[in-house]
Amino acid sequence: MASSVAVIAREVEREYPQALEISENELWLLSYYRESELAGGLLMGRLARETDDDDLRVRLTEHCAEEARHAWAWTECILRVGGTPKKVSETYQSRYHAAVGNPTNLLEVLALTQIFERRVVRHFRAHQSWPGTHPEVKRTLQQLIEEEAGHIRWVKDRLDAYAAANGETVVKEMMERFKRIDEEVYNGLKRYADRFEQVVGPKQPSADSIEQRLRRVAADSLGHDESEIRFDATLAEMGVDSLDLVVFMMAVEEEFRIEFTREEQSAFRTLGDVAAVLKGATKD
Ligand SMILES: [Fe+2]
Ligand SMILES: [Fe+2]
Repeated sequence: MASSVAVIAREVEREYPQALEISENELWLLSYYRESELAGGLLMGRLARETDDDDLRVRLTEHCAEEARHAWAWTECILRVGGTPKKVSETYQSRYHAAVGNPTNLLEVLALTQIFERRVVRHFRAHQSWPGTHPEVKRTLQQLIEEEAGHIRWVKDRLDAYAAANGETVVKEMMERFKRIDEEVYNGLKRYADRFEQVVGPKQPSADSIEQRLRRVAADSLGHDESEIRFDATLAEMGVDSLDLVVFMMAVEEEFRIEFTREEQSAFRTLGDVAAVLKGATKD
């Protein structure tokens, strides 16, 4: 094992520059892009596993694969400009979910994805024109702009079909709502453009107990008040459907930097069960 790692290290040395050719701030930003692509891929993959819709299962799987490839494109870009991807503490999706709460149905998932994808393309176009942008970064931005267009298209097709079946107003209103939230999230981040590490750099470990943190995550992602969260009630009693569960599990995994196995997930009946697994996983 050690020798193959050494071989990879030698190849990396030969292929990629040693010194960082972009600013430290831009390295944080690219690392954030990379992690957000990964978060997008993971979300799409999870939704693909959950959905009962045959067409959606295909689309979401392809979308998952593409976002994973984008995460790799950013990883390669970072290596080519002499960097190493940094570990970042949040993603664009996590901010969205914190602001939006829980997408409770297919329409919300589609509308949110559509607004999100449009934002990515707009932002990548703006980034291309920033003075001093490294040619390698520009090239990656261009590649991803072209590929994101396909994501916008399939989601729009599904939204149009939804509007034809359920009326345009409901779709329009949902899009307007998410647009407003997107503006808020984006403008909140923009303030930190020249000191991005402050947003995505390492956070102080929370002094709150596992229960307090879990209660907060559950309230945020399930759209409840913290006082309504009970550890002994079943998730079904709290009105958690399979889509809620996907969003909730991702929020818990992000907060605690953990990944549940499928067996663990299907064994969860109550929040107390989740807390017990977290306690077991986080003790030294
Ligand atoms: Fe992407
Ligand atoms: Fe995308």
